[in-house]
Amino acid sequence: MLETNEITVALPKGRLEKLVQKMFAEHGIRFEFEDRKLTACTADKKFRFFLVKNSDLPTYVRHGIAGIGICGDDVIYESGTTFTKVMKLDCGNTRMCLAGKVGTPKPKPGQKLKVASKFTRFAADYYNSIGTPIEIVKLNGSVELAPVLGLTDYIVDLVETGSTLTANNLEIIDVLKEISVYMIVNPSYYKMRYKEIDELVSLLRGDRR
Ligand code: PRP
Repeated sequence: MLETNEITVALPKGRLEKLVQKMFAEHGIRFEFEDRKLTACTADKKFRFFLVKNSDLPTYVRHGIAGIGICGDDVIYESGTTFTKVMKLDCGNTRMCLAGKVGTPKPKPGQKLKVASKFTRFAADYYNSIGTPIEIVKLNGSVELAPVLGLTDYIVDLVETGSTLTANNLEIIDVLKEISVYMIVNPSYYKMRYKEIDELVSLLRGDRR
């Protein structure tokens, strides 16, 4: 744990970053990451924010370096850790989908599937649970390239607007899970700071002015 009185919050780099920063600002919690700087503090020193790679966020919260984190259940699931979710956010909803080139047939039940994905745990567990044998090719990004270049016919990936699929002549074959964004907490941190965390949740939910 940090030896500080600030409430520590890990934010994921990327598309959620600005949405979450805006949500905090709308409720009077303002902070700016200076050029290339990965930590930022509110003027009243009540909150300190860390900008971390999406997939690393659960690690910071699990170790209590950040007491709070904001991330999707895709990232939580891949981390293999169960966190207390204190709030569901209204922003950043996506869908975990099976996708492929336009016209690729939906796999038949039980048919062996080869997919490229960043979400290997999810893909393995999902298809194992429905009795579909699966081979997964792990990628770390730009997963849509796999069917385009012929690495695999199928991908399991997040779809938000669908524009990346469309731009690459791909389409959704199956929606596997709706993905929401949550505020998660480190359980020990929550025991120590529950009053402030509950107040923050009430503020962000608009329970009080
Ligand atoms: C995510 C996801 C898709 C894309 C979908 O990738 O993995 O590639 O967004 O968004 P869309 O439906 O709005 O087009 P991200 O941008 O996080 O980066 P990555 O390609 O490096 O994984």
